[in-house]
Amino acid sequence: MKARIVGTGSYLPEQTRTNYDLEKMVDTSHDWIVARTGIEERRIADATECTSDMATIAAQRAMDMAGVTADEIDMIVLGTITGDYPWPATACIVQANLGAKNAFAYDVSAACSGFLYALSSANDFIVAGRGKRVLVIGAETLSRAVDWTDRNTCVLFGDGAGAILLEAQESDSGVLSCHLHSDGNFLELLYQPGFGAKHPVSVEGIGARLSYLKMQGNEVFKVAVRSLTEVSKEALAANGYTSADVGQFIPHQANLRILEATTKRLGLTEEQSFINVHKYGNTSGATIPIAIDEAYQQGLLKEGDLILSAAFGGGFTWGSALIRW
Ligand code: ACO
Repeated sequence: MKARIVGTGSYLPEQTRTNYDLEKMVDTSHDWIVARTGIEERRIADATECTSDMATIAAQRAMDMAGVTADEIDMIVLGTITGDYPWPATACIVQANLGAKNAFAYDVSAACSGFLYALSSANDFIVAGRGKRVLVIGAETLSRAVDWTDRNTCVLFGDGAGAILLEAQESDSGVLSCHLHSDGNFLELLYQPGFGAKHPVSVEGIGARLSYLKMQGNEVFKVAVRSLTEVSKEALAANGYTSADVGQFIPHQANLRILEATTKRLGLTEEQSFINVHKYGNTSGATIPIAIDEAYQQGLLKEGDLILSAAFGGGFTWGSALIRW
């Protein structure tokens, strides 16, 4: 039994924020941002949109592609760090929006690795024979967690959502493996200090801007490239493949330099590597399902192709998935 991708969908907010827009907000330049990150623009949710809205549209598109109705969904798992509320899970709001009354739903908090963590849970659920169809979603409204006065971080992130629909099938195609890792010792290199139980909302905390994402970018960069490379090799080795067998490498889209360094270390060609970070920036848990949907829409994913995906993010968390399309 394999978990096969039978539907993909994505949603990007209409509003575009270019590097030139950012030049008016912080001390930065289009050239600096492009040279250091490859990002040219990102999408920003409007005031009426939040994570569940974007996730619902992406999920509905994946269901429409597969011709599956809401009552046929057994499980909804959503990777996000920018849910609508601290609790309950945003996945439950998506369930209600879709009318998926036979599903159970929960969120996974693994930052930029959230989608692959969610995919791993969904795959285990299907392979164990516990259900037939799972919506795996990554969705983020990072524009509300980013400090728009901090040039070190605000240039990197954007909003959006992507989803895939997995279906249990007797097939050689589908998810071949998932490998997940984490190391909590790196917590303070990339995190949101407030307002959880450790630093609840306070006037001092608001003054110290604790509700915004904090990052030590160059430290994150080094560990990200190393971890993405190792976990990608782990996926290939576990299945007896090499880089030459990969049809498309669809990594987490954080930064063009991270992607290029990882692709080079893996010995993959430009043609094998899918990149859309220039258009959307880093949408954290949403980058991979958005990229899968775009790659599919562009005709880059053909039946039988080997798809390698890898992600790295706050926690630190990292992981990979190998999928036969
Ligand atoms: N515009 C202009 N100058 C800037 C900006 C900006 N937006 N941001 C930082 N600088 C300045 C710094 O202040 C510093 O100036 P100084 O030398 O006078 O002190 C200088 O640029 C160099 O700063 P560094 O942080 O050393 O620059 P670096 O080359 O490391 O690039 C970046 C910064 C782009 C953040 C890089 O470290 C990076 O991409 N890291 C990965 C972070 C990431 O992707 N995080 C996302 C979450 S994790 C993940 O998804 C993988």
